[in-house]
Amino acid sequence: MINQEDFFKKITSHAKEYGFVFQSSEIYDGLSAVYDYGQNGVELKNNIRSYWWKAMVQFHENIVGLDSAIFMHPTIWKASGHVDAFNDPLIDNKDSKKRYRADVLVEDHMAKIEDKITKEVEKAAKRFGETFDEKQFRETNARVLEYTTQLDEISKRLYGIMEANDLPAFKQLIEDLAIVCPVSGSRNWTEVRQFNLMFSTQMGSTAEGASELYLRPETAQGIFVNYLNVQKTGRMKIPFGIAQTGKAFRNEIVARQFIFRMREFEQMEMQFFVKPGEELEWFEYWKKERMKWHLSLGIPASKYRFHDHEKLAHYANAAADIEFNFPFGFKELEGIHSRTDFDLSAHQKFSGKKIQYFDPELNESYVPYVVETSIGLDRMFLTILSNSYTEETLEDGSERVVLKLPAVLAPYKVAILPLMKKDGLPEKAREIMDTLKQDFMCHYEEKDAIGKRYRRHDAIGTPVCITVDHQTLEDQTVTVRDRDTMLQERVPIGKLSDIIRSKVKN
Ligand code: GAP
Repeated sequence: MINQEDFFKKITSHAKEYGFVFQSSEIYDGLSAVYDYGQNGVELKNNIRSYWWKAMVQFHENIVGLDSAIFMHPTIWKASGHVDAFNDPLIDNKDSKKRYRADVLVEDHMAKIEDKITKEVEKAAKRFGETFDEKQFRETNARVLEYTTQLDEISKRLYGIMEANDLPAFKQLIEDLAIVCPVSGSRNWTEVRQFNLMFSTQMGSTAEGASELYLRPETAQGIFVNYLNVQKTGRMKIPFGIAQTGKAFRNEIVARQFIFRMREFEQMEMQFFVKPGEELEWFEYWKKERMKWHLSLGIPASKYRFHDHEKLAHYANAAADIEFNFPFGFKELEGIHSRTDFDLSAHQKFSGKKIQYFDPELNESYVPYVVETSIGLDRMFLTILSNSYTEETLEDGSERVVLKLPAVLAPYKVAILPLMKKDGLPEKAREIMDTLKQDFMCHYEEKDAIGKRYRRHDAIGTPVCITVDHQTLEDQTVTVRDRDTMLQERVPIGKLSDIIRSKVKN
């Protein structure tokens, strides 16, 4: 079995080799934690975005879209709390000169203890065979209990420290746990400091007349400040939602793990405005609804889990993450937050404009409460890639790499391949392509042997390959090859549209 670190390296290099993701500014030695999407990546990314948009906007009569600007009035970030509180605690190792997020160092330490528990469980499972009762083992084994107690104590201390923003206690915790720098191996740490994650820039041409702006660290605030515009012009009735996708920027201290944590990334967010008091019901509704969306892509439920937040942000009265089992473990993919009336009330206060909803049933006005769903498009891209990358050994002993992408997301739905570059086969293939490309993203290829072309399309996840051969010219039939089963069947050209549509529906 291939280990997860190697698997992750394989995904990363596959993404580059097949035109999905490139390091930004690569010919200038790259820009850290910034990535570009290549010819196949942009298609996959667009398809994920529109799959989300369809589920949120097209399938919900009471959700509408928005595309707000990245530049916004700087006071917005004061009102939202980002200027004062959008910080990460950072710590430097004096020997390696490497910088870390203090909470991540502690969490990594906890993950190592969790690994030890998993190893104990695996060892016991092997020893006891079929009679093994994992639950009982976890509850009674002395070593596992000791590790579990350690974890509980560390997490209690960590949450307490973060809640109180107690930076000296943070350093003490790192020292008490004897955490060493992964690069230098030393415990020679600086103090812990807070670091604001927003990028700033200037608007205006002269230094004196210029004002400082921030690149938005979340798309959500564009929705809040347009709440009144959309509600009034769209005559929206509560409960209703506003959805938006777009770039967000964060000066992440620890930017690693490929497109998992980037400095420029894309979010897909929806703010759902509800009557105060009903927010927790809606919170549960959206938790279920969003999990359904993930599972609708055919990814096994065992790869997802909810993580309910113990420590809530100052604006939230409930929060949960949907975590995915990435090659580096279960990590946050999407957040669902019950944000109360924090944001709208803050904008009301800072702007001096009344931001309320007149409820005709109650005959009174109130500031709506908000339940938000927020997912990183790039993280979803990585989820799809990690779940789809498959290496297979075929019956003849040869290997193939296939991206088993959900067909609805695949960059190309169809590859159209003339068996040979002569005898009128390319012309016939192009004729078929001209009709299919109206409805499906098609790719025409005539170079190399047919087997090699099949492999190339397996590697980018094309669900259907159509081969045009001499028989096609005689009886208007082609061969249709299925990416996953590799089975081929002969079908009339006239049926192609229906066959492809049934494979890529959604
Ligand atoms: N408006 C709420 C909000 O922004 P968040 O948990 O900070 O909440 C939401 O971010 C989602 O955005 C995350 O679940 C993650 O998928 C994505 N995300 C956040 N920071 C990211 C980064 N540096 N790189 C890639 N995706 C990121």
